Amino acid sequence: MGKNYKIAVLPGDGTGPEVVAEGLKVLAAAGKKFDFTIETTEFNWGGEHYLATGEILPDDAVETLKKFDAMYLGAIGSPKVKPGVLEKGILLKLRFDLDQYINLRPVKLYPGVETPLAGKGAEDIDYVVVRENSGGVYTGMGGVMQENTPDEVAVQNWVYTRKQVDRCLKFAFELALKRHTAENPWRGLSEEDRKAGYTAQLTLVGKTNVLTYVCGLWERAFNEMAKDYPTVKTSYCHVDATTMWMVKNPEWFDVVVTENLMGDIITDLAAMTSGGMGVAGGGNLNPEGVSMFEPIGGSAPKYTGLGVINPLAAINAASLMLEYLGEKEAADAIQKSIMFVTGNKLKSMSAGKMGYSTSEVGDLVAANL
Ligand code: IPM
Ligand code: MN
Repeated sequence: MGKNYKIAVLPGDGTGPEVVAEGLKVLAAAGKKFDFTIETTEFNWGGEHYLATGEILPDDAVETLKKFDAMYLGAIGSPKVKPGVLEKGILLKLRFDLDQYINLRPVKLYPGVETPLAGKGAEDIDYVVVRENSGGVYTGMGGVMQENTPDEVAVQNWVYTRKQVDRCLKFAFELALKRHTAENPWRGLSEEDRKAGYTAQLTLVGKTNVLTYVCGLWERAFNEMAKDYPTVKTSYCHVDATTMWMVKNPEWFDVVVTENLMGDIITDLAAMTSGGMGVAGGGNLNPEGVSMFEPIGGSAPKYTGLGVINPLAAINAASLMLEYLGEKEAADAIQKSIMFVTGNKLKSMSAGKMGYSTSEVGDLVAANL
């Protein structure tokens, strides 16, 4: 008898429920094949619930969610609600209160998927961004004075503690070691690097030339921790230059680690280089607690109910969830199935242009596990 996983499902707004349904379909199929079961409990928090009841999240939401093995989220955000209310009140609140301090965002160009990067293929775009997810300007520390006057003053503090930085860096160093597998040997390392004994590489992204206090802290902590990982080749890139290299030389990257807002920005760029929001999934991880997996894209309200949205991002998020639940074999099988489907079936990754409906894409991934 395989394991049973208790999953809190938050389908959310817009096309969220449609893509989550496909992810659950693939999870169920994977469970049959690899001998585990997924027991879901649905929570209908989001735009509609807020408009109907005035409640963003119930007071006991966080305590309730802590009892699950993982959380699976569709999308949060509705055009009928003022921007920020649901994003801050649900998505960011859950990330913070559940201390999901890692936002893990794989960037992988699947076979048959078009990239806007001329001359680059699936072998060039395959890295992971570790975005710090609990601090930075997202902390919301600061304020406004004399609002709506010519003398208005606004301050938004960029806050990091050494502990926050260290736990994120530790995760990234360990991930760099873990990604060094037979299928992914010495990515981004030169022949000389290999001879020098390096088996993995990790890039810190910051802005140490200007933001000297916070990025200085990250850089010092990074260099100190690097001493404990002698086989990980470390490098540093300013965030502006990173956007350039992600376009020009994405093959240089294997594991990238950065702070919250910089990670937010570079992962949208990275997602666009690898098939866009229809494909990119990620995880908000609390390695010691409950983690939440989600497609990176938004609720895409204009496509709601049409059955045309690409569910691969949500299916990718589901596969990442299995990996972190310890079902690595099943996660790998989903990855292979996605590769088969993108390489042989879908005409495009864009909504309405796939050549298949949302639910047919889910069927294809489930059938080819
Ligand atoms: C993301 C999103 C969120 C963020 C928003 C919706 C609050 O852009 O998950 O990247 O900024 O983290
Ligand atoms: Mn974002």
